[in-house]
Amino acid sequence: MAREITKIGVIGLGTMGAGIVEVCARSGFEVVGVEMNADAVERGRGHLQNSTSRAVSRGKMSEEDQQALLGRVTTTDDLSALADCGLVIEAVPEVLSIKRDVFGKVDDIVADDAILATNTSSLSVTDIATATRAPSRVVGLHFFNPAPVQKLVEIIATVITAPDVLEDIRDIARRLDKEPVVVGDQAGFIANRLLLAYLNRAVSMYENRYASREDIDAAMTLGCGLPMGPLALLDLIGLDVAYAVLDTIYKEGRDKLHAPSPMLKHMIAAGLLGRKTGRGFYTYEKPGSGKVVEDGASTSVVPAGVEPRPTTKVGVVGSGTMATGIAEVFAKSGYEVKLVSRHAGRVEQAFEGLKKSLAKAVQRGKLTDEVREQAIANISISTALDVLSDVDLVVEAISEELSTKQAMFENLDEICKPGAILATTTSSLPVIQVAMATKRPADVIGMHFFNPAQVMKLVEVVSTVSTSTDVVATALDVCEKLGKRAVTCGDRSGFIVNTLLFPYLNDAIKMLEAHYATTDDIDLAMKAGCGYPMGPFELLDTVGLDVSLAIQRELYLEFRERGFAPAPLLEHLVKAGYLGRKTERGFRTH
Ligand SMILES: NC(=O)c1ccc[n+]([C@@H]2O[C@H](COP(=O)([O-])OP(=O)(O)OC[C@H]3O[C@@H](n4cnc5c(N)ncnc54)[C@H](O)[C@@H]3O)[C@@H](O)[C@H]2O)c1
Repeated sequence: MAREITKIGVIGLGTMGAGIVEVCARSGFEVVGVEMNADAVERGRGHLQNSTSRAVSRGKMSEEDQQALLGRVTTTDDLSALADCGLVIEAVPEVLSIKRDVFGKVDDIVADDAILATNTSSLSVTDIATATRAPSRVVGLHFFNPAPVQKLVEIIATVITAPDVLEDIRDIARRLDKEPVVVGDQAGFIANRLLLAYLNRAVSMYENRYASREDIDAAMTLGCGLPMGPLALLDLIGLDVAYAVLDTIYKEGRDKLHAPSPMLKHMIAAGLLGRKTGRGFYTYEKPGSGKVVEDGASTSVVPAGVEPRPTTKVGVVGSGTMATGIAEVFAKSGYEVKLVSRHAGRVEQAFEGLKKSLAKAVQRGKLTDEVREQAIANISISTALDVLSDVDLVVEAISEELSTKQAMFENLDEICKPGAILATTTSSLPVIQVAMATKRPADVIGMHFFNPAQVMKLVEVVSTVSTSTDVVATALDVCEKLGKRAVTCGDRSGFIVNTLLFPYLNDAIKMLEAHYATTDDIDLAMKAGCGYPMGPFELLDTVGLDVSLAIQRELYLEFRERGFAPAPLLEHLVKAGYLGRKTERGFRTH
């Protein structure tokens, strides 16, 4: 029989507890908040007062509603005040002994049918539940930070949790206006398990000096539309918290990818915990502030005094989506562009497509007619590579095949004037192998644009061991003039974005394959819990399962990391011809 719950207790009124009190009171429940002592009670009430006042000042809550909400909340340092609560949610620090102690005490205070929930993000709910006399009434109820904002709650059912407890807690979560997903008691649950492994990879990338902190963060926000970059997010979460969650996940599965990066440990030892201590990967104005200040730790790959080469004439080789988009971007920014493709029909078609895209931009009010006309006037098309003899920069965007690209670069090397820079847009091939097809490897660089090039702000600028610094400087300078945000990185498979993105997608597939959660639940967890624009399965179906598999295979071959091996389910779906939206079936049927 469903419980009639009207009163909820919350233990611990810190970051999460105070937010959970607000969520419960907002939905009309009577709430009892319990802290350790009078000072902590006062601090907890302060959090609640501030957060609701902010909502009032932003026009999201009326003053009357705020008063009514606060009127439903009583706070105390006496656990016995929880006696008549039908549900008690614990949000004390992430330490098993503290949580077990709290559960043992509450167990004796509340009625026999009351539900006990823990907000733990990494500890075993089963371990906590066994501190009570009736572990079947214990569940995990994992809110996301900030609790009043994030829609997701993960409900964790242990092997002992009673089905009626689960039903009732799911019902309460809905009454709290949250989107619940129910999962088993596995470290990290859905969202943290997928998120933390990715954040850990970003730390390793930074630790190995593959890219700067700013570039790693910009790559993921601009390349994937994530609300925050991984290192900035770690500063927000707290490095100690992230470490604890990773450590628990690692100990459960012994997967090296979950072993916290050594750098995290050193930073924690040095007190660099993120925003809360005023310094983590970035330095903040003061502890608790989110305002980043200059700290001299930003690095540049281009030494001072290295000048970019003058660039006005640009060649774009290819006639596909990328070549057309890139030609448009250059032409709009005032460069003289020569668009070249072997096939007469195709290069004309590409030019027509480009004109249409410009016209659309005018219609949408994103471009003036004048700029459109000028852009078209800036472009000439040809089927002969010879016209590229006088350009300062060539951007190659032909098919993704090493031998085809090598042959092209050999030709370009013969045709282009000395000092001209040859760039490839490859997303997966080693740039150095393309460079070695020329007699000027120092002048060869990767410029990885994202699709659609007209829209996506990110360009990964990839330098090889041979690329000269003034060539890097030129690529960065050109990107700036194109209104793009360039990030620099080394010449290895996946660059920044794919190396961080695809193993996360692969992990999501493995989670599905293990029947830990459904596609809908996993997608929901990442969207409603982490603010991702798309869930992993939505993204996989959009990118294409064949493309995703190819990238994941390359990453595996490059890093020989066991955890990077493509999930068997992905291989099977590709074999079955379920490639995603383009074949109307992938992880979902479209
Ligand atoms: N911070 C996050 O982003 C986040 C997100 C989801 C879940 N969680 C989980 O929520 C829980 C709380 O985390 P937080 O970030 O709010 O921590 P916090 O340190 O901000 O708050 C913990 C509060 O518990 C109080 N407390 C300690 N012992 C107590 C006791 N015996 N009785 C009553 N109160 C006691 C402390 O005084 C403190 O105010 C942890 O389990 C954490 O893993 C945190």
